[in-house]
Amino acid sequence: MKVLVVGSGGREHAIISKVAKSKQVDKIYCAPGNAGIAQLAELVPIPVMEFDKIADWAAENAIDLVIVGPDDPLVGGLVDVLNAKGLRAFGPDKKAAILEGSKAFSKDLMKKYNIPTAAYENFDDPQDALAYLETAKMPIVLKADGLALGKGVLICETLEEAKAGVKSIMEDKQFGDAGNRMVVEEFMTGREVSVLTFCDGKTIRPMTSAQDHKRAMDNDQGLNTGGMGTFSPSPFYTKEIDEICKKTIFQPTVDAMRAEGRDFHGVIFFGLMLTKDGPKVLEYNARFGDPEAQVVLPRMENDIIDVMNACIDGTLDQIELKFTDNAAVCVVLASKGYPLHYEKGFAITGLENFDGRDDIFCFHAGTKLSPDGRVITNGGRVLGVTALGEDLKAARANAYKATELVTFGNAYKRNDIGRAIDEADI
Ligand code: AMP
Ligand code: GLY
Repeated sequence: MKVLVVGSGGREHAIISKVAKSKQVDKIYCAPGNAGIAQLAELVPIPVMEFDKIADWAAENAIDLVIVGPDDPLVGGLVDVLNAKGLRAFGPDKKAAILEGSKAFSKDLMKKYNIPTAAYENFDDPQDALAYLETAKMPIVLKADGLALGKGVLICETLEEAKAGVKSIMEDKQFGDAGNRMVVEEFMTGREVSVLTFCDGKTIRPMTSAQDHKRAMDNDQGLNTGGMGTFSPSPFYTKEIDEICKKTIFQPTVDAMRAEGRDFHGVIFFGLMLTKDGPKVLEYNARFGDPEAQVVLPRMENDIIDVMNACIDGTLDQIELKFTDNAAVCVVLASKGYPLHYEKGFAITGLENFDGRDDIFCFHAGTKLSPDGRVITNGGRVLGVTALGEDLKAARANAYKATELVTFGNAYKRNDIGRAIDEADI
C-alpha cells in the first residue's frame, strides 16, 4: 500500500520510521517532510494547511492511507476534506479535533461528564475575566481557548500578573484569535504525565506513558517550548493510577465525545496531573505528542498500520497494544535562542552515525537539504536524539552519549532531561 504522512517534524519522522517497518507498506510519501524524513519517504512539497492540494495529490496518486500528524490541519478539518474525496485518513475529523482546538469546549465537556480536571471559568469578555480575578486564589492559570503552538498557557503568581495576562491574551491578542475566549483555571500541583491513546470512536487503548520537559532551560526554567525532551515510561504512572485513569478519564472521554456526536477516531493525548486527589486532566491533544511520539513509538511492537486501520474501522477492541519492557529517552537538540529568535542554515554533521542502528535514533524536526545537498538546520527544534535502554537511567545515559555523535552551529540542549527519574523510587 501507499501511505502519505502530513507534517514535517520529529513526530512525523517517528511515525514514518514505524510505518516503514510495516510489511504492508510499499511506498511512503510525506508532505512537506524534512531532510531526515527524505531518507524513508518521498517528499511532496505541499504545506500542511493546503487541504485541497493535499487531497488532490493523494487522490491522483492513489494513496491508500493518509496519516495527519500536526494539530493545525486536524483542527482545521483536513481529514474531512480527505474523506469527502473518498480517501482513507487517520486522525480525528474537525468535529472531534475540537477536543484540542478549543480549551473552553474541552473544559465544558469534562464538567458535563464528570471527568476530573481543574476548576475553571470560561470568558469571552476581558472585563468579566478581570472582575473574576479580583477574588480568585493565586497562583492561577490563564489559557487562550484556541491553538497557540503550545504557548497559550500563562501561570500567574499574583493578581497583577494575571491582569497583565488577560490583557496580553484577550486585548493585545498575543496568540491571535486563539485569545478571543479564555479559560481561567485553578492551579494544580503534582507530577505531570502524558498518556497517548488510540481510539476508534468507542474503544480506547492507552500506549505506554511518557513525560515531556516543556521549559527551555535546565531545572524547568525559562520559556515554554514545544518540548525539549521526553522519557518513557513514567515511573510515577503506576498500574494502579493507570486503572483509575482508564475508568475515570480515558473511557469517559471517548464516551463523552460519542454522546456529543463527535466520535473520535485517532490519537487522544491526555496531559495529566497526578494530584493528591487523584489524576486530573491538564489538557487534551488530538494527535501524537512531539516529542512524546519519539519515545513511545520506538517501544511499540505492533504494526502501526494495523492499529491505525482498526481506529478508522472501529475494530480496536480486537487489537492488543504491546510495548517492549525497556525505556526510551529523547533529548532535543535545538537552535540557541529557541523558542524566541534563532539563526538557521547551519550544516549538521555526524548524522551517518545513526544509520542502521536500532538502539539509537536521530529524529529530524527542523532540518532541510541545502541546494548543495548538505543537511542544514531549519527550525527551533532541530533534532530529537533518542535512545533505548534496559531501564530509564540506561536510556538517559545512552541518549546523552548519542547527542555527542552529531554537531551543528548554535546547538542548544537541556542537560537534565529525565531529572524526575532520580526522584522516583526505582
Ligand atoms: P497545557 O498546554 O494546557 O498542557 O499547559 C502547558 C503547561 O502548563 C502544562 O504542561 C503544565 O505544566 C502547566 N499547566 C497547565 N494547566 C495547569 C494547571 N491547571 N495547574 C498547573 N499547571 C498547569
Ligand atoms: N509535547 C507536547 C505536545 O506535543 O503538545
